[in-house]
Formats: sequence, structure tokens, C-alpha cells
Amino acid sequence: MDRPPYYRPIRDEQVLFEHAFRERLPVMIKGPTGCGKSRFVEAMAARLGRPLVTVACHDETSAVDLVGRYLVKGGETVWQDGPVTRAVRAGAILYLDEIAEARPDVVVVIHPLSDHRRRIYLEAHDEDVEAAEGFHLVVSFNPGYQRGMKELKPSTRQRFVALAFDYPPAEVESEILQGEAGIDARTAKKLATLAHKLRRLDALGLAEAPSTRLFIDAARLIKAGAEPRRACDAAIVQPLSDDSAIVEALSEVVALAF
Ligand SMILES: Nc1ncnc2c1ncn2[C@@H]1O[C@H](COP(=O)(O)OP(=O)(O)O)[C@@H](O)[C@H]1O
Ligand SMILES: [Mg+2]
Repeated sequence: MDRPPYYRPIRDEQVLFEHAFRERLPVMIKGPTGCGKSRFVEAMAARLGRPLVTVACHDETSAVDLVGRYLVKGGETVWQDGPVTRAVRAGAILYLDEIAEARPDVVVVIHPLSDHRRRIYLEAHDEDVEAAEGFHLVVSFNPGYQRGMKELKPSTRQRFVALAFDYPPAEVESEILQGEAGIDARTAKKLATLAHKLRRLDALGLAEAPSTRLFIDAARLIKAGAEPRRACDAAIVQPLSDDSAIVEALSEVVALAF
């Protein structure tokens, strides 16, 4: 078997997820971009020995995309399961990433999967599919109301047990940087401290807080041999902003760290 994905637990989220899985309670993972939501779900699927079906939802994602559709193949129409139907039949962990971004009809599909019914009705195909043993519904949601991100209806939210994720404390983030990029402890600590400093600079008005992912990328460049300031510019500063004043302010903080 493949090695399970590296995941550094932050609190008791793994235990709680396992309880939810056994109790058949759908899970919602809330948190900002790049804080480890997807990695956590990948690690949990491996831990529980379940296949994982991930759907990255966006504003065009519709119920039909998820459930399935008839396709014309060589003059014949054949039914093709969508990812949700495949997950339901396979008893997989179904991860709907950024569920709030999807079209409203997606919610109609997931409601009967999120309660005791654990089933899905394929209207176009007139088939009622019961979820196989081991099926588990997980969604992620980025609560970014200040930034005009979409909200989730309360009636939908209340169908899930919710785990709140955030960027990890500096010591833990430093450990993750070492684990992911294989850099030395000293450089990892500098990058993690930088991460925390930059996240506190609200005054910069960044559209989104700098995610762990950026610091991992910087760590990889440094590990590969890039000069640290140059690595931080390319992996952190430039992806965050095009505004020259903001770029300058970010660069100053980087220069203090390295
Ligand atoms: N707790 C963690 N353990 C291991 N790696 C992590 C952790 N948190 C974040 N990461 C790293 O950060 C990257 C971004 O995390 P990801 O799960 O993709 O974020 P999200 O899904 O929340 O946007 C991952 O690819 C992984 O390298
Ligand atoms: Mg993700």
C-alpha cells in the first residue's frame, strides 16, 4: 500500500473525525485556504482505509455533474455515474471541497445523503441508490464572508458536525514545514515566524491571509538551493500582491526574517 499522506494533527480532530465516521455523522471542515483541510481528509481516508472521492466545487458545479448523466457513445445512450454516485456505490469518503461555491441544486442532492436515509435518487435514471457501508460525506467551507465568498444555508449547515480549522501555531507550522519540505529546523522556524508576522499585518488589506502552502513552497525553493530572500519573494510576496506598496511592505518583513 502507498504510504499514507503526512498529516500533523493540531488538536483532537483525528479522533473526532473517527467518532463522526462511526456514528455516520457528516463532517464539515471550516477554515481559510491552505490551512490543511484537504490534507486532513486525505489522511483520514487512508487511516480509515476508505477510498476517497474529491470534488472541487466551483460556481458552475451542478447536481447533474455530481450525480451523473446520459452520454451518447457510438450511437447509443449510456448512463454514466457522476463522482457522488460513484462514491455512494463504492462506500467511499466523499469530499465536496468548497461546497458553498456550487449551484444551489447540489444541496438538494446531498440532503438525503446527509441524514439517516443515506441514499441518492438518480432522477434521470430513475434509480434509488443506497450508500454502501463505509460511505461518508465530508464538505469543506471557507467562511470568508468579508471577502464576498458564498454562505451556506443554515438548514444545510445544521446537517453536519463542524470542525473549525485555522493556521497552526508557529511551532507546529515549523514542524509541518520540516515534514513537507525537508528543511532544517532553523530555517523552518524563521519561515513559520514570518508566516505569523505576515498574517498579523491586517493593515495591508490582503485579499486572503498568506496560507501555509506559500511557506512550504518557499521552503522547497530554499531546500533546492535558492537564496532565502529570493525564495520568499517568489513563493510568498509576489503571489500575495501586485500592489507595489504592499509588495514593498511584505519585502521589508521578509528582510527582517532573513
Ligand atoms: N497539519 C498539517 N500536516 C501536514 N501538512 C499540512 C498540514 N496543514 C497544512 N499542510 C500543508 O499545507 C498544504 C496546504 O494544505 P491543504 O490541505 O491543501 O489546504 P486546504 O485544503 O485547507 O486549502 C498541504 O499540501 C500540506 O503540504
Ligand atoms: Mg483544499
